[in-house]
Formats: sequence, C-alpha cells, structure tokens
Amino acid sequence: MKTLFDSIDLGRLPVKNRIVRSATYEYLPAELPGEGEETLIARYGALAAGGVGAIITGMMGINGDSHVVPMMSKPYCYGHEDPSFDAAFANIMNAVHAHGSKLVVQINHCGIKLGPYDDGSIPLGPSDLELVPGRPGRAMSDYEIDQTVRDFAEAALQSKSSGADGVQLHAAHGYLLSQFLSPHFNKRTDQYGGPIENRARFLLRVATRVRATLGATFPLWVKINATDLEDESITLEECIWVCKALEEIGIDAIEVTGGLGNGKRSSPSRIVKSEADEGSFTAQAEAVAKAVSIPVISVGGYRSPQVLERVLNESDIAAISMARPLLSEPGLVARWQKGDIAPARCISCNRCFGQPLTCKAFAD
Ligand SMILES: Cc1cc2nc3c(=O)[nH]c(=O)nc-3n(C[C@H](O)[C@H](O)[C@H](O)COP(=O)(O)O)c2cc1C
Repeated sequence: MKTLFDSIDLGRLPVKNRIVRSATYEYLPAELPGEGEETLIARYGALAAGGVGAIITGMMGINGDSHVVPMMSKPYCYGHEDPSFDAAFANIMNAVHAHGSKLVVQINHCGIKLGPYDDGSIPLGPSDLELVPGRPGRAMSDYEIDQTVRDFAEAALQSKSSGADGVQLHAAHGYLLSQFLSPHFNKRTDQYGGPIENRARFLLRVATRVRATLGATFPLWVKINATDLEDESITLEECIWVCKALEEIGIDAIEVTGGLGNGKRSSPSRIVKSEADEGSFTAQAEAVAKAVSIPVISVGGYRSPQVLERVLNESDIAAISMARPLLSEPGLVARWQKGDIAPARCISCNRCFGQPLTCKAFAD
C-alpha cells in the first residue's frame, strides 16, 4: 500500500514524500542576485518548509528568444561563469535543502504561444501560422531547430552546474516542444511533421542531447500532454509512444498533463468544485504509467489527500503534483501530514495567473 508520505526514488531523485509542486511561472523580474533571489528564497523556502517532496520551478527560458526569463537572468544561458549568479542560486538551493526538499528546474521555449517580439520579429514555431490574431508564428528552419536543440542542452547544463537537483523539459501546454507534438500547430510536411514519429523528432532530439550533456545519472524529467483538449490533438496512444521513446533515451520521470492553454476550453487549469472533479488527467497518467517503467507524476486538479492516496493506490502512478493549491497554501502538505486532512482551500479561480504571483482569492 502506498501512502503520500513514503520516501521514494522519484526519477533518480530521493524525495521524502510523493507530493511535488508542479511548475508555476514566477512572474519575476530577471534579477539574480537581487530582488529575484530574495523572492525565490522566500517562495521556495516556504514550499519546502511546508512539506513538499520536490519543487519544480516555473519555466525558465533556454535562450533570449524563449519569451520567458532566461534562467533567472544569466544572459542567454550559454553557461558562462558568473560567480554572483551561482552564489545567489546556491542560497536558493540552501533554502530548499534546509527542509529536506529538492529543486528541479523547468526549461522551456514558448514558441509562438506569445506575441511578436518587441523588435517586431515573428516568434518561431513548427509552422507559418496565425491561430490567434496578433500572434503569428514562423516555421523553424533545420538550422534553427539544430540551434534550439543545442540551447536546451546548454540551459540544462547551466541548471546542473548552478546546483539544481534536476531538470524538467517542458513539452506540454502548447509551448514550443508541445507545438511540434500537436497537429493543432504542426502542419509541416518534412521529417518533423505528419506521423507522431516525425512530430516527436524535435523533442526526442532535445531529450537525447540533454541526456548526453547532463550525463547518465542526473535527474531529467519531461512534462508532456496526453491530450491537447482541441479538435486536432495528440492522442493518448501517441503520447504513450513518445513516453516509451523518452524512457529508451534515459528520461527518469514523466509528468502527464493536458491542454494547449488556448483559452478556457483547452486550459489545463480547470475549475475543481468537488472530489468528482479532481484529477483532470488521471486516466491518461494511469495509462502512461502502465506502459512505461519509469515513475509517472500526475498533475491537474488534485485537492484532497484521500483522492491523492486513492489514485496512487489504484494505479502505477508514483507521485502527484499540484500548482494552485500550493500557491494558496504553501504549508498544505505539512497540514495534511499533521492530520488536518481538509481539502486544499484553493477554489480554482485562476486569479493567480498574472503578476504578482500570489493567491488573490484570499488576499482581502
Ligand atoms: C500561475 C500559474 C503558472 C503556471 N506556470 C507553469 C509553468 O511555468 N510551467 C508548467 O509546466 N506549468 C505551469 N502551470 C500549470 C501547472 O503546473 C499545473 O499543470 C496546472 O495548474 C494544473 O494543476 P493544479 O490544478 O494543481 O493547479 C502554471 C499554473 C499556474 C496556476
């Protein structure tokens, strides 16, 4: 019988329980050291003190074109030495490790998800598209794909050399790697488009290169969609095919989610009103967990410890991750462990999206 508080090896990372903080974008200025450092020490320190086994950072950009803060300000992640950055990062890690928790850095490229760059240039994606008015995308050339593969590896190496406990590749929610996986975005007719073997080629190349760069034993996780919640979507069978290929490459754990985040319909952050609404993608995570032998983490709409434990025990899922509940209550896991098993207070209002990153539901 599994319990929430089993110490386990989660994708090569020894963790003190089965609860993970799922990546939550920090909405931070790019300042490390500085204000960013202080905010992250407070934020991750509170989560670690609050009992989570591991914290996945908000997405960090792999390069200057990623449209998200590149690795908390180290210019464009090319791994050059920067003692003040590393000292600040070490302080953040200490705040997490002081409470026996672990920190995994999520690295990402937004692709065409966000608008044109400030200089008016068009973001890179799988295809020439303007699915959302004002947000055009330009199809990446082979050279740009090769360069982006290298940039993922550099950013991963930088995370490792700065002292992170692990790295997660963001291949979900309609960002660049997910855009290639999804037929909603990917209209290519070359070796990166068409059947899933082709649509997954970019992600598998990134995973292979990052694995080789980090070495065989550094924890490397992937977050992936099992459904895009759009008419044109990756299928569960396709997702399982990709997860098996990732396992073969040497990925250590997979977090299963869904949705491209195109408005309410395909948002992975849905309203959760009752126990019956909990676990938006549990069935898909269960199916992936059955098909692979590396640990699977299930995310989306978990709120009650009873539901978490039931899912863990009725499936091969190894751990559960949460974002909004832990933003609202960083001490949630410790509260449950002390015996107060009332569900998370989070009402899924989604007002936490946007600056500043706080739970606005209980702010007044
Ligand atoms: C404010 C906010 C920011 C988020 N940022 C990220 C992110 O940077 N990377 C990511 O993979 N998911 C991100 N997510 C999605 C969460 O990791 C999670 O998949 C989703 O919120 C569903 O889980 P929940 O019901 O526990 O909140 C974010 C969610 C929220 C609410």
